Amino acid sequence: MHKRLCYGEDTVRSVGFVGLGTMGGRIARRLLSVGHEVYGFNRTPEKARPLVGEGLRLCGTPRAVAERSEVVFSMVTGDEALRSVGEGPDGILAGLRPGQVWVDMTTAGPEVSRELARRASERGGCLLDAPVSGSVTTLEQGQLSIMVGGDRAAFERVEPLLRQIGRRVTHVGGNGDALLLKIAINLSLPVQMLAFSEGVLLAERSGIRREVAVRAMLDSVIASPMLGYRGPFVLELPEEAWFDVSMMQKDVLLALETGRKLDVPMPATALANEMLTATRGMGFGRRDFAAIFHALAAMAGERRPEPDDGRAVVEPEARARGQGDP
Ligand SMILES: NC(=O)c1ccc[n+]([C@@H]2O[C@H](COP(=O)([O-])OP(=O)(O)OC[C@H]3O[C@@H](n4cnc5c(N)ncnc54)[C@H](OP(=O)(O)O)[C@@H]3O)[C@@H](O)[C@H]2O)c1
Repeated sequence: MHKRLCYGEDTVRSVGFVGLGTMGGRIARRLLSVGHEVYGFNRTPEKARPLVGEGLRLCGTPRAVAERSEVVFSMVTGDEALRSVGEGPDGILAGLRPGQVWVDMTTAGPEVSRELARRASERGGCLLDAPVSGSVTTLEQGQLSIMVGGDRAAFERVEPLLRQIGRRVTHVGGNGDALLLKIAINLSLPVQMLAFSEGVLLAERSGIRREVAVRAMLDSVIASPMLGYRGPFVLELPEEAWFDVSMMQKDVLLALETGRKLDVPMPATALANEMLTATRGMGFGRRDFAAIFHALAAMAGERRPEPDDGRAVVEPEARARGQGDP
């Protein structure tokens, strides 16, 4: 049985989803679980097999997804990936019909999104940028925040659908505005993580166990929601990154570039960017960006973790001064 949602005079039954990665795959699962017919595409189709088992109808191209669905979503890595699924004879644009809404949840650059929005409107369709704030767990709890930029009427048509994905849904302005806000929010993530790592390392070097320091700091006023779930990763990195170092750096670079264009200096973001480069250089590119802690620890003279090309778990044993190996 399909739940039906307002979509103009009609209801939404079929939904398309292009990009079934860590976030997109889970959102598609959520849409399936509330009864939608979901058509999907992933560049690497094998990764979508579990979703096919749950009812997702896999298509061969993003265009086919757009053609089969009433509302089409996309959520891929960044600018390049968005162009790759959006443009060309097999892209979403090629399958977009007049009146159809394309909701892009990628954290991409505002300019690319605005350009694709112009091209969508030339076809009579409408692109909304709808980046999300939150993590894998926030998403699974239905607590994602979704900011939306673009045509207000199109937003109102898809709002009930967006509320099935995340609890907080806000229309913030025209095309690209939601992405600008998303970038402005995300620059704080590695900055916070770096400050937290400095504090943990300082406490540990003075003889306090890392676990004790982490717990005390997360019980203090500095515990933002992000640090609340990611702070413990300095004790053990998750096998699968919730948000990896390379992806984090992609957002930081978008922020730095936007700051340069708008004459806004961002010294804290620039420093965090250098630490992300160091973290990648140590082989942690595909690990959760909490690995920034390990780059800092190495700078503090701790045994350097083995480079792992982002696969094996690397946990350097931190030593309190005078308590461990020289
Ligand atoms: N993870 C988080 O906590 C989080 C939170 C908020 C926002 N975001 C944003 O959400 C977006 C997706 O993140 P994610 O964590 O889901 O990333 P992910 O797991 O790496 O998934 C990326 C997706 O993009 C596809 N892709 C990459 N390059 C492509 C290309 N050139 N052509 C076609 N498809 C391509 C991948 O396909 P393959 O499977 O074939 O590689 C995959 O489906 C990013 O913009 C990220 O910044 C993530």
